Amino acid sequence: HRDLLGIAQLERHEILYLLDEAEPWVELNRQSSKHVDRLAGLTIINAFFENSTRTLLSFEIAGKRLGADVVNMHAAQSSVKKGETLIDTAITLNAMRADAIVIRHGSSGAVDLIASKVDCPVLNAGDGQHEHPTQALLDALALRHALRGRGEAAEDFTGLTVTICGDILHSRVARSNILCLQALGASVRLCAPPALMPVGVEAMGAQTFHDFDAALDGSDVVMMLRLQNERMQGQFIPSEREYHHLYGLTRERLKRAAPDALVMHPGPMNRGVEIDSEVADMLDRSIITRQVEMGVAIRMACLDILTRKARGVEGWA
Ligand code: CP
Repeated sequence: HRDLLGIAQLERHEILYLLDEAEPWVELNRQSSKHVDRLAGLTIINAFFENSTRTLLSFEIAGKRLGADVVNMHAAQSSVKKGETLIDTAITLNAMRADAIVIRHGSSGAVDLIASKVDCPVLNAGDGQHEHPTQALLDALALRHALRGRGEAAEDFTGLTVTICGDILHSRVARSNILCLQALGASVRLCAPPALMPVGVEAMGAQTFHDFDAALDGSDVVMMLRLQNERMQGQFIPSEREYHHLYGLTRERLKRAAPDALVMHPGPMNRGVEIDSEVADMLDRSIITRQVEMGVAIRMACLDILTRKARGVEGWA
């Protein structure tokens, strides 16, 4: 079987294949009846060792809309709290003969470790500061839809400049998006306070900035990230008020980007800190709720594709 551990393991044509495979699910999800039997009889376990709203719910909805039996394991209510190790937890889930396991974990590499211990496909729902591949895929799908809605071809993102601003240091979303956006032809700019910019990130091919106004100049897409206070380990960062002054996306500041620049945020947002409400809620520019919508379709495509081998169906890119 094959896992989905990170964008780093995907070829460009595989990313495009995943996006194309999600399109029929976007259509299905917009109908009143949203149920098919494609994964009927399969069991999917969502094992979440960290909090989540969007990723957990959309994986659960995705599995159920495809007809699978979906069960959720919340670490806070599990035997992890009694001292059971990650490997023993993985062996336990494996013994229940799941057909796919979706994992979120606070440690980078934990999902890869579990994948090496189980027999079924494993999907990374975010591991530490490493990768969040389905987030990058749903972001690409939301961007593609927004560009097509404006009459642009959007086969890929060649010629597009995307600025990602915020806590880059702790962001698996940024890492997966750098890889995904660049694979699809976009130029990526990263902007963060010095303490929140990973050392050596330029080697990934992105341009780095500490001045948000300079980073925004002419950007076609602005992706805002929250400060991940739960992962801070003594980094020197400005107060929330100062952060907002330097790095908050305001209506005024957005004028520095391209005239019709799109605004994205993976959520959860801290309104008034990294993004003002009047920007987050701009109907013609913000695609934040569309990102959430595309999350269900992308996760349906991923679950469908990764279980094909077990179902005896051809067709992974
Ligand atoms: N974007 C994202 O992963 O959100 P959740 O933490 O709510 O799943």
